Amino acid sequence: MDLKLKDKVIVVTGGARGIGESIVRKLAEEDAIPCIIDVNEPLANQVCASLIRINKKCFFAGADLTDAVQCRQAIEKIISRYQKIDGLVNNAGLNDGIGLEEGSYDRFIHSLKLNAVHYYLITELVQSFLKLSKGSIVNICSKVAETGQGDTSGYAAANGMRLEMSTVEAREVIAAGVRVNAVVVAECATPQYEWWLNTLTDPEGQLRKINAKIPLYNRRTSPDEIAETTVFLLSEKSSGINGEFFHVDGGYVHLDRSI
Ligand SMILES: NC(=O)c1ccc[n+]([C@@H]2O[C@H](COP(=O)([O-])OP(=O)(O)OC[C@H]3O[C@@H](n4cnc5c(N)ncnc54)[C@H](O)[C@@H]3O)[C@@H](O)[C@H]2O)c1
Repeated sequence: MDLKLKDKVIVVTGGARGIGESIVRKLAEEDAIPCIIDVNEPLANQVCASLIRINKKCFFAGADLTDAVQCRQAIEKIISRYQKIDGLVNNAGLNDGIGLEEGSYDRFIHSLKLNAVHYYLITELVQSFLKLSKGSIVNICSKVAETGQGDTSGYAAANGMRLEMSTVEAREVIAAGVRVNAVVVAECATPQYEWWLNTLTDPEGQLRKINAKIPLYNRRTSPDEIAETTVFLLSEKSSGINGEFFHVDGGYVHLDRSI
């Protein structure tokens, strides 16, 4: 299926690794122009260079997304290079484990900045360009907002905000022909996930227990599985879909995990 994404300029936050990197690579396969905004400059440059080597396009604008000035500068850099934006994937984030016992006012607010505030800010900065292109926004979200996890007040609250913003913003920009959808992730095998697993005692045993609770195939989803759905939602092939939450999670959230 031709997704008709050739030469579409798509901003991907956190595109240097994990789910974001997979989205960037799938977009490049479709001959789109993924534009990575990420704080990890060496990794982002590696991703871009590997794509350019195989005659694909990719652009990098460095920013720490918790800094509003850097967010604005990154979007300005993309606009001055391409003069348009056709799509946005808000993806960067970190489950920083800010709960009650280990938390504080400052750490909770920082968690919201790491995970939700830039979802608003980047969308606000690109909205006028997306209205011109009738573009599409995909917000990558976590099941933690729906299922709860414990010790994650900041991250869970931020993910509640991500989902709510997806709904209200879909309503707000609908008249301009811009669509907004959410892709909800549960357990996905990324560098961040591997790092978290290795903080546990007996990571292999823990992973076996987690896998046993994932209804489809008893395994985690792959970043590529998240990317396939995301790229479809960015394309005009999903033109009838707006304001939806897609759980790409092997049935983790909606199917009974007790059997
Ligand atoms: N992996 C999972 O199981 C899982 C589950 C639910 C939701 N998610 C969500 O998916 C998204 C991606 O997660 P991942 O597992 O691929 O993570 P990852 O850590 O492997 O990759 C995240 C990328 O975002 C970048 N980034 C993080 N904070 C940034 C900041 N402040 N400024 C600029 N760049 C920043 C990192 O440098 C990195 O390149 C996150 O928002 C996370 O909440 C992941």
